[in-house]
Amino acid sequence: MPTVAITGSASGIGASTRALLESNSINVIGVDLHNAEIEVDLSIEAERSKAVSEVIELCGGSLDGLVTSAGVSVPFDPARMLTINWFGTVDLLIGLREALSSGTGVAHVVAISSNSTTITPNVPDLLVDACLQMDELAAHKILEEMEGLEAMAIAYAASKLSVARYVRLNAPTKEWAGSNIRLNAIAPGAVLTPLLQGGLDDPTFGAAIKQLPIPVGDFGSPDLIAEWIKMMLSPSADFMCGSVLFLDGGSDALIRPNDWPVSMKLG
Ligand code: NAI
Repeated sequence: MPTVAITGSASGIGASTRALLESNSINVIGVDLHNAEIEVDLSIEAERSKAVSEVIELCGGSLDGLVTSAGVSVPFDPARMLTINWFGTVDLLIGLREALSSGTGVAHVVAISSNSTTITPNVPDLLVDACLQMDELAAHKILEEMEGLEAMAIAYAASKLSVARYVRLNAPTKEWAGSNIRLNAIAPGAVLTPLLQGGLDDPTFGAAIKQLPIPVGDFGSPDLIAEWIKMMLSPSADFMCGSVLFLDGGSDALIRPNDWPVSMKLG
């Protein structure tokens, strides 16, 4: 029976994915604050290491798939949000890479990014660079210089942009594609989960979220995102490498119709 580790398995997209995979006879190792096989706080470095070693132990050193869905959103302390969403993702990707490459077949990873990567204006390159250089202190310092509400929105978008960039930078390399691992991301838009509800219930962010245009007419459902994750964990995704799949009801396409594709500039 294949084994897939899911962070954030206790709620929302992670919980829907867990239920769908288990109903398809896939063994799931859940990682979350509560209600999971491995209960850890991914905002703490030592607990991220603990999560990695416990997943390796539970899967016997060979993992078929990984979904990094643990995350928080606005309103939340900006520095801690950046740490959970980015370091809580990348440390697990790095820590579990060897276990993913240890099976006989192709392993698949789905990292959960967000459409906030492309529709949040003015995310500082320096902040994303600090994340990609794994410089947590520098990243927190940049956020400290911003106003509270702006810092929250920027921290969220920067954490998710870093996830998408990591996928693009690493998926095609010998450590990932060359080691029989397909690394891809999903960039959801507004999906009705406890995380989105927390934003909707906030007076400031709630109004902003309600203004987000969704051409298909409504929020997405976590069960629908789970269907795509399941496909991206299956052999159907063996030719998929470094993709960031937008599942956002058309918000990104509506807001920036001409920004994609961007052609390469040579010379
Ligand atoms: P959710 O709140 O329903 O589930 C997130 C899970 O992450 C929870 O079970 C929570 O306990 C866990 N988690 C949070 N902090 C943690 C920590 N420090 N250590 C361990 N686990 C922790 O949220 P949802 O909506 O399912 O989100 C899943 C992912 O999708 C997140 O990364 C989120 O940023 C992303 N996303 C969600 C969107 C939405 O509209 N719901 C839109 C775009 C991206």
